[in-house]
Amino acid sequence: MASLKSLLPPEFLLFILSWWCLWGERLAHVQAKSTLKPGEALRYPDQLVSADGRFRLGFFTFSSPDVSDVGYLGIWYSDDAYNTKLWVANRDRPISVSTGNLTMEADGQLRIVNSGGSPIPLNSKQTAPNSTATLDNSGNFIVKDLNPDGSTKRILWESFDYPTDTLLPGMKLGINNITGKEWKLTSWLSEQVAAPGGFSLEWSPANGTRQLVMRHRGNMYWLSGVGSESDFQNLGYKMTLDNVYYNFSYIFNENESYFSYSVPNGRISRLVLSSDGMLTDNPKPIYVTRGMCFGYSLEPGCVQQNSPACRTSSQKFEQRSVQFLGPRASQWDDNSNTSIGDCWTKCWSNCSCVGFDSYSGNGTGCLFHESGQFVEENTGINAQNIYVLITPKTPAKKWWIWIIVAVVAVLAAVILGCLYFLRKKKLRRDQESNQEVALLFGDTKEASNDGKKGHDVKVFSFPSIVAATENFSTENKLGQGGFGPVYKGKLPEGQEIAVKRLSRSSGQGLVEFKNELILIAKLQHMNLVRLLGCCVEGDEKMLIYEYMPNKSLDFFLFDPKKRGLLDWKQRRNIIEGIAQGLLYLHRYSRLRIIHRDLKASNILLDNDMNPKISDFGMARVFGRNAADAITQRVVGTYGYMSPEYAMGGNFSEKSDVYSFGVLMLEIVSGQKSSGIYNPEHHLSLVGYAWELWREGKGLELMDSSLVESHSEHQILRCIHVGLLCVQEFAVDRPTMSDVISMLSNESLPLPIPKQAAFSTQRQLTETGLLSGEKESIPASATITISEMDPR
Ligand SMILES: *[C@@H]1O[C@H](CO)[C@@H](O)[C@H](O)[C@H]1NC(C)=O
Ligand SMILES: *[C@@H]1O[C@H](CO)[C@@H](O)[C@H](O)[C@H]1NC(C)=O
Ligand SMILES: *[C@@H]1O[C@H](CO)[C@@H](O)[C@H](O)[C@H]1NC(C)=O
Ligand SMILES: *[C@@H]1O[C@H](CO)[C@@H](O)[C@H](O)[C@H]1NC(C)=O
Ligand SMILES: *[C@@H]1O[C@H](CO)[C@@H](O)[C@H](O)[C@H]1NC(C)=O
Ligand SMILES: *[C@@H]1O[C@H](CO)[C@@H](O)[C@H](O)[C@H]1NC(C)=O
Ligand SMILES: *[C@@H]1O[C@H](CO)[C@@H](O)[C@H](O)[C@H]1NC(C)=O
Ligand SMILES: *[C@@H]1O[C@H](CO)[C@@H](O)[C@H](O)[C@H]1NC(C)=O
Ligand SMILES: *[C@@H]1O[C@H](CO)[C@@H](O)[C@H](O)[C@H]1NC(C)=O
Repeated sequence: MASLKSLLPPEFLLFILSWWCLWGERLAHVQAKSTLKPGEALRYPDQLVSADGRFRLGFFTFSSPDVSDVGYLGIWYSDDAYNTKLWVANRDRPISVSTGNLTMEADGQLRIVNSGGSPIPLNSKQTAPNSTATLDNSGNFIVKDLNPDGSTKRILWESFDYPTDTLLPGMKLGINNITGKEWKLTSWLSEQVAAPGGFSLEWSPANGTRQLVMRHRGNMYWLSGVGSESDFQNLGYKMTLDNVYYNFSYIFNENESYFSYSVPNGRISRLVLSSDGMLTDNPKPIYVTRGMCFGYSLEPGCVQQNSPACRTSSQKFEQRSVQFLGPRASQWDDNSNTSIGDCWTKCWSNCSCVGFDSYSGNGTGCLFHESGQFVEENTGINAQNIYVLITPKTPAKKWWIWIIVAVVAVLAAVILGCLYFLRKKKLRRDQESNQEVALLFGDTKEASNDGKKGHDVKVFSFPSIVAATENFSTENKLGQGGFGPVYKGKLPEGQEIAVKRLSRSSGQGLVEFKNELILIAKLQHMNLVRLLGCCVEGDEKMLIYEYMPNKSLDFFLFDPKKRGLLDWKQRRNIIEGIAQGLLYLHRYSRLRIIHRDLKASNILLDNDMNPKISDFGMARVFGRNAADAITQRVVGTYGYMSPEYAMGGNFSEKSDVYSFGVLMLEIVSGQKSSGIYNPEHHLSLVGYAWELWREGKGLELMDSSLVESHSEHQILRCIHVGLLCVQEFAVDRPTMSDVISMLSNESLPLPIPKQAAFSTQRQLTETGLLSGEKESIPASATITISEMDPR
């Protein structure tokens, strides 16, 4: 690789060098700056950073596909795994962040300039020509009038006076008796819409005692009860849980009356009033209530709401993953000023309503369900996470039901047993597999004898698979997957197939099997592997795929001899194909699917070396209005897992983007992500790539067999995009559609990548995972790391 430098023209090195200098200077500039002076402006993606580096102010967007570059000006902790936005300047009026900016006019007026609309002034009344706007070490954005010697004459405006949904240590909740101004929190409308929502939290006198009062649309919703130095009477979970320690203060004087708090040692803390009416301080949630307070909730502090006669005190709405049986009736309300709490109140007061959900992907509007039949269902394709009316049954009744069920089951088993002996062996076999598959789909009626299912999955008989694979002979074994061996087979018609035989001891139980089966049956894209059918026989479960003659990507990429067979054109084609397949999963299939285990061995190659994504055993279907989710069971492959997923179990489309970034770096470098580069520093591939890039030596990452392709420009661009995908914070990473436009449109300017995840020394990351970061791993989390052999 050292010889690479000598191959490059000196002009090119000079170009990189000068470009690097500009970038380095800009970085340093951004890092140092905490203050905006008259005549200056702040543009996306630049940020102000508080002097101690703890807080940042800048423009941000949500990467949700339908919101694109519409975003807000906000403040956040530099180092917050949850990336909570602490303050938002323009919550009512999101702007296009790529064209807008924050400008301080010569007269000291701060305004958000929006290319489309009129500017949004921040300190409209109080301005002075000699003022500055500074993000201070408490996260307060302050406009000060300065004396000629630089000292503060007076404070003109501060963001702490305009709280949004978050109380930071040092902020006030209460009333200023001089100006009459009230400091109170107002929730966001939904997790992705910062506009004021239905909930507010204030510090106000109620019958003489001062307490925190939460309101929903103006109505009293929850009362904190009497507060002490570190707690409130009615908190559902105690604030002093574990080592979380708060110091609450209550100030009353003739000028002001407020509540505020502090935490020791500047620990990261923020009390957030969430859009569904809870108070949280991640990663240790301090719930005000465990669920919503509406209806007959008995949670401490909940204020009883009016309920119609049809609702009993044992009923409540709970969030469940359900599947509706039969046709269902729904009503909707697409008013984008309403969100989940409003849906709750409306559904509760309408006796024909049995469940609800948000209407829009951004969490606004309501969808009401009016038919009563649903079952709980955690993984199926039709499962949806919604609020449903729960009417608990008495335990005694349950016992009777269970006894009846047991008796019926025993009788059924006896009858089936008799049938078993009466029927011919072959006939029995076929039926059993059909019935079992039908059970998987939860609908016996769909099973029919022609072997076709409603989902276009063909059911193969066990003997036909035995014949096709020559009784699972060793010669036909293609490899060993995470869940069992994979065999090559040939059907009587001559079609070649790949049979994934799930071993009984594999982690892939019925649930994962069903997941993969139903998922793939519904997906059709040239970059996704095609499922032909399945076969179930007793304990045996098998998936039958189209056969891929060229095995998987890792088979070529990580073999020093075969690597040379993949030229740059092919690699580029592979990268694009994977990107298209992923985009389809994320956006264009009717479902939103997160693959969760994207890696080189899961990319299969067809005759023409076109890539096809395979192995959907761990994929998750997403509710359309969930931005991300948290799992207790972290599954995936070390080296491809994004930090928020590996450490917090938090996954989203951006975790797939991360894995895709790693894959891109692997394809360009021909190296495994789990290898160790630069032995002195124990860097992973991602860390190594980031180091080279920072030193302006990005091309050294390139696989030496690509040197002859003369596509350095394209390769460098791929590395650049790859580094954008592996950025530490999920919000910074591009979406798959961004990635595709970056790759296909070479004139599109690329943002500068921020710090890559896991780019520091590897040992540090690993111990971090085991001890330092333990806080963010759910107690019951298990980390399953699968290491697959090439197949
Ligand atoms: C800020 O944005 C406005 C409107 O797009 C533009 O006219 C102005 O030049 C920008 N200012 C700076 C300093 O970029
Ligand atoms: C503003 O600053 C300049 C130079 O620092 C000084 O000469 C001037 O007196 C100041 N004006 C006010 C109103 O303080
Ligand atoms: C205040 O007192 C009135 C009458 O005693 C009572 O109805 C009301 O619920 C009380 N409010 C609070 C917030 O305690
Ligand atoms: C709590 O905060 C108050 C004021 O901020 C301070 O006077 C007091 O010493 C603190 N108490 C503890 C135990 O840290
Ligand atoms: C706030 O001002 C009002 C009158 O403006 C007064 O009645 C009240 O006592 C004051 N509150 C405090 C805490 O001093
Ligand atoms: C109340 O405000 C007045 C005038 O701004 C000030 O002189 C006084 O010290 C303040 N009182 C307290 C307790 O802060
Ligand atoms: C939503 O609220 C805005 C501002 O309060 C109002 O102008 C608009 O008409 C409302 N939209 C609907 C559909 O109620
Ligand atoms: C409430 O119930 C009525 C009558 O059953 C129905 O027509 C209406 O659509 C329902 N409204 C909602 C919001 O569910
Ligand atoms: C939320 O989505 C709905 C429907 O897509 C749209 O009408 C509304 O403007 C969105 N709200 C925001 C703040 O983006």
